[in-house]
Amino acid sequence: MFSKNSLFFETVKILIVSVSIMIIISSIYSYSVEKSLALAKLRKEAVFLKNITINTIASYVWNINKNEINDLSEIILEKDIISGLQIIDEKDDLFYAMKKVPFGTVSYELPDAEFIPPQYYFKIEQDLKNGDESFGHVIYYITDEKIYPAVRIALLKKIGEILLIVTGTLIIVLFGFNKTVIHPITDLNNTVNMFGLNNYSERSNITLKNEIGELARTFNFMADTIQENYEDLEKMINDRTKQLLHAEKMASLGELVAGVSHEINTPVGIGVTAITHLEKKTNDFIKLFNEEKAKKTDLDTFLNEISDTVVLISTNLNRAAQLVQSFKRVAVDRSTEEKRRFHVKNYFEEIMLSLRPKYKKTKHKIQIDIPMELEINSYPGSFSQIISNLVINSLIHGFENIEEGQITLSAKVVNENFIFEYEDNGNGISEENITKIFNPFFTTKRNQGGSGLGLNIIYNIVKQNLNGSIDVQSEPGKFTRFTITIPYEA
Ligand SMILES: Nc1ncnc2c1ncn2[C@@H]1O[C@H](COP(=O)(O)OP(=O)(O)OP(=O)(O)O)[C@@H](O)[C@H]1O
Ligand SMILES: [Mg+2]
Repeated sequence: MFSKNSLFFETVKILIVSVSIMIIISSIYSYSVEKSLALAKLRKEAVFLKNITINTIASYVWNINKNEINDLSEIILEKDIISGLQIIDEKDDLFYAMKKVPFGTVSYELPDAEFIPPQYYFKIEQDLKNGDESFGHVIYYITDEKIYPAVRIALLKKIGEILLIVTGTLIIVLFGFNKTVIHPITDLNNTVNMFGLNNYSERSNITLKNEIGELARTFNFMADTIQENYEDLEKMINDRTKQLLHAEKMASLGELVAGVSHEINTPVGIGVTAITHLEKKTNDFIKLFNEEKAKKTDLDTFLNEISDTVVLISTNLNRAAQLVQSFKRVAVDRSTEEKRRFHVKNYFEEIMLSLRPKYKKTKHKIQIDIPMELEINSYPGSFSQIISNLVINSLIHGFENIEEGQITLSAKVVNENFIFEYEDNGNGISEENITKIFNPFFTTKRNQGGSGLGLNIIYNIVKQNLNGSIDVQSEPGKFTRFTITIPYEA
């Protein structure tokens, strides 16, 4: 539940370290207090021991009663606090001594006096007196050895108590901490994560009155603002995209018109030249005729001229009429988007004709593999726009640096579906780019006039107008193939 770096563990770590430091300090303090108390007690006991024994010792020494001194010394040395006793006579010679050794006591008497004082913490010296006259003194050697175990036990008891209290407090504090801090923060974190995953309506429902509650309210406020801005932005982008798409459609229509004028120019131009030529020939003949100089050969020549020119004019006018017809259909379809029934092959050929100005100066070939009889009830304008954008892409991207490319259009009906395939054997699209090409504004020719809308328009037309799907396959350096599948209506 908690990671190594979680707030919970951080807190536990800090608590453990600070509690340990507290325990160490309080132990040192307790130890010194316990020790000085024990030492004060030791001093008191030592003085008490001296007070109750000194007079008896004095009388035994005065009477030189060594046996009694020995017995009394043994009784005194039974006490823990004393490690030795030494009696010195008025000439400062050793009179009698006894000290503790590991398993009992040893005593010393004159003249074998090689007495070395035992280990002691302090000593008490007291004169031996008869009235005002001093006849020697006694030294009590007091040891502190026996007080330490007691001090240690007292200390351990104290540490035990502290540990118990601290552990209990720690558990309660951490439980509370988890409930009031960790849990709300985790909760808030989840909310923020969800929000980060584009769930802009996500809000925190923490109602605490503390800083975390404040943080949650600030987050909610920020989320409100972001959501509002996001919605505004989304609406703005939608509006802009619509405007752009409309502009793009208009521009392509404009281009179409320009292409049309260009294409029609040739047959109409030929027609005008031919008729001018005929006019001149007619005037020449009328003049000859009025001057009554016309011969039969002149009439024959004139009639031949008429017949040839009429054929020329008729062919070119027909060509112009045919162009106008198909351009009209394509242009009207593109601007009105009406559903109608059409011959797929014928219509696609007309579209390619309207695009001819774009590729007629190149060596690229167009192949249309569509069954003659295939008809469909659909939106011809949509197809016109799709094919037009695809062809322009092939010319600009697919056949960049390629002199003789081939574009193939094919269509068939399979299982109630109309499948249209468009393929060019050009440069292809890299694996990295192929997932992005339908995104609006994705282009590899940003600085060369590409806006990245062509394929996005196609995508939208296929999805929205035609209720179908579009797929792309490509092998860089070999081919690019778009497959459009729509429900078939005969
Ligand atoms: N036939 C193709 N061969 C190779 N690459 C292509 C082909 N068609 C499209 N692409 C790649 O897909 C990108 C997106 O195409 P799209 O038509 O959407 O934008 P564009 O042609 O760059 O700009 P616009 O069409 O708006 O003028 C192109 O920039 C190009 O890299
Ligand atoms: Mg394009």
